[in-house]
Amino acid sequence: MTFTRRKILTGLAGLAALGVAGGGARYWLGRPADPVSHDYELIAAPKELELVAGHLTPAWCYGGQAPGLELRARQGDWLRVRFTNHLPEPTTIHWHGIRVPLDMDGVPYVSQLPVLPGESFVYRFKVEDAGSFWYHPHTTSAAQLGRGLVGPLIVEERAPSGFTHERTLCLKSWHLDKQGAFTAFSVPREAARGGTPGVLSTVNGEHAPALELPAGQVVRLRILNLDNTLTYRLNLSGGEARIYAIDGHPVAPRALGKAYWLGPGMRLDLALQAPSPGEEVSLRNGPLRLATLTGVGDMGEPVWPEALPRNPIAEPDTEQAETLRFNFEWSGTLSSEAGAGDAFTFWQVNGQAWDINDKTCADRPIATLKKGRHYIFELRNLSQYQHPIHLHGMTFKVIASNRKRIDPWFTDTYLLGKNETARIALVADNPGVWMFHCHVIDHMETGLMAAIEVV
Ligand code: C2O
Ligand code: CU
Ligand code: CU
Repeated sequence: MTFTRRKILTGLAGLAALGVAGGGARYWLGRPADPVSHDYELIAAPKELELVAGHLTPAWCYGGQAPGLELRARQGDWLRVRFTNHLPEPTTIHWHGIRVPLDMDGVPYVSQLPVLPGESFVYRFKVEDAGSFWYHPHTTSAAQLGRGLVGPLIVEERAPSGFTHERTLCLKSWHLDKQGAFTAFSVPREAARGGTPGVLSTVNGEHAPALELPAGQVVRLRILNLDNTLTYRLNLSGGEARIYAIDGHPVAPRALGKAYWLGPGMRLDLALQAPSPGEEVSLRNGPLRLATLTGVGDMGEPVWPEALPRNPIAEPDTEQAETLRFNFEWSGTLSSEAGAGDAFTFWQVNGQAWDINDKTCADRPIATLKKGRHYIFELRNLSQYQHPIHLHGMTFKVIASNRKRIDPWFTDTYLLGKNETARIALVADNPGVWMFHCHVIDHMETGLMAAIEVV
């Protein structure tokens, strides 16, 4: 396949034109150079953060912070991010959940060459979808995301949404010891099971922060799970909360209920009536408190907005759709694959394991879809662990499960439960080679990834 080679050549041409690390202004902090065109300079660089009181952690940051700088755009506008890599190793940026052309997708050797230390790359695309999305590298992912390279991308609705207050809450748990030093981001025996969990849970980089909200008013909470491993069982102690969007895409508003399972990579837009002045509610993961939300100021009147407008996603027609089957299973070897560096293989999709050291994997797509056709993917989990299954490039609709009643919704990530079989549907409307993988990062890096081609 000449595709990869052609893309790499394009990437080289782009670099030559740009000039490496240019002579222009250098901003340590990412910032919007022009808020109307949503134009950012974004630098990834090491920075020490005090995540554990009294100790410094050698984090890697986007825009000098972790989670990274919040990038914002408006639906229908262009977003331009001039990205510079000041890390000691190659990286890329992948825009998770938002539909972009292949050359902006940030997968090394598939959509671009890795951005080497000192180099820049300009990401520029029109944002078709409003919602809560995020960005992260697609290179040495367990370590790069683990060190802090994760950040929110918020796309505002074209017309006012009816929300007057909002907060972004980025959830991440860090792999640290008591002195703030990093511990292993991926441990083989954990990667072979549920994934390697962090130990220090944070919201916007702080452990169990206290956040102030305008008392009595309805606040949009954009909750993003930017963690490598953890599925959060989100709940609120008291307070009325309604779900407005799942993984960026609007749903008919409904009560949060007892708990919402937010897998790695997934997002939830909640409307919460903030507590009365001085009162508080806790945002929790199961029984564990993630953040305390306190009402401040004079008591306001709650105004519950209408449902958010839907995004322009093609509606799959299940009548004419072709069904493709994907089995996700444990591949049952605990030893390192010979000759493959330090890559372990524990997982596979339809009998194939992705080798993160093999740049040519994407040349062997697991399925080839015809542009404009409709498809149903039947996802079968043959393992005892859940997998948040994520697709690049296209948004799909969840239509059925053998485990629960499905009220269909659009998403980029479906949390496939143990032994669950689910059906998702999509229109193959974005040509390219798209990663299809589990978002438990060490599952992805030990085999649970495939490429889907649309031609
Ligand atoms: Cu957040 Cu390949 O994805
Ligand atoms: Cu993605
Ligand atoms: Cu998985």
